[in-house]
Amino acid sequence: MSKATIAVTGATGQLGGRVAKKLDAQQIPSRLIVRDLSRAPDLQHAEAVAASYIERDSMLEALKGIETVFFVSGFESEDRLVHHKAAVEAFVESGVKRVVYTSFLGAASDATFTFARQHFATEEYLRTAGLDYVALRNSLYLDVLPYFAVEGEIRCPAGHGRFAPVAREDIADVAVHALLDKEIKSGSYNVTGAELLSMQDVAALLSSIQGTTVKFVNEGVEEAYASRAHYDASDYEKEGWVTSYLAIARGEMNVVSDVVKKFTGHDPITPAAFLQALQNQKA
Ligand SMILES: NC(=O)c1ccc[n+]([C@@H]2O[C@H](COP(=O)([O-])OP(=O)(O)OC[C@H]3O[C@@H](n4cnc5c(N)ncnc54)[C@H](OP(=O)(O)O)[C@@H]3O)[C@@H](O)[C@H]2O)c1
Repeated sequence: MSKATIAVTGATGQLGGRVAKKLDAQQIPSRLIVRDLSRAPDLQHAEAVAASYIERDSMLEALKGIETVFFVSGFESEDRLVHHKAAVEAFVESGVKRVVYTSFLGAASDATFTFARQHFATEEYLRTAGLDYVALRNSLYLDVLPYFAVEGEIRCPAGHGRFAPVAREDIADVAVHALLDKEIKSGSYNVTGAELLSMQDVAALLSSIQGTTVKFVNEGVEEAYASRAHYDASDYEKEGWVTSYLAIARGEMNVVSDVVKKFTGHDPITPAAFLQALQNQKA
């Protein structure tokens, strides 16, 4: 294997893929740890190896010589923490020094958003393992706002709560900076956009940019579960979806941070600019 000292997990996904490309553009060698080699991005300065968090031997092999890891949180399943714990154990066993982890805003053991509890537990694994770590507590992705609207309606129990969505592209810039700057102190960093929006605001933005009418319908909790009952997803995932909106309603995502600007030197893209660019691509 090459002399890469940075490994990127989740490189077949949206965020890991962006981080891998950005490192490559700077001609920084990296090792992409993927579960399926055939879907690994083909990059000039990167090599791909097959491993999965839960497979100790493949992880130890993939991590040989690696000092810093971009650790992408795994699929939201009931045993996700088992995978995360195994990954952290492999990092320690193979001598990794620093980990940049994709956590979530408001990560806490008693967070309303159930997935944010898992992120907190994963941060705890990193902390107690004695690793130098940077947990990026990302807000909701700006990229997903258009998918909130189904048949002209955003239906969810977010009430009047507000959140500051952040683009994956900005998070990837933050992550690359965190991977390369070893002076960044171990700890958790909120990564958000610069504008707080309510779901009414999101509906109004989508309406004006898409030239259609999008309405926000505030659901009750039971109604929210009922309207998602037909989706092909586990109860566990559905609980995650519904509680993410409840966390907004309860003000747990009412956070604006300056981390994008501080880490990257540029402002986060605004929701209007992001959605307009998306709309222009479609036209
Ligand atoms: N902030 C938000 O709004 C938000 C929204 C959705 C998700 N997330 C979280 O942020 C993470 C990164 O986002 P994304 O947009 O890059 O997601 P994504 O496009 O779904 O990519 C997830 C990546 O993680 C890999 N992965 C999943 N489970 C794994 C496991 N157990 N072992 C090894 N690799 C595993 C996937 O590999 P395969 O290609 O082999 O499946 C994929 O490469 C997600 O995984 C999720 O935890 C955040």
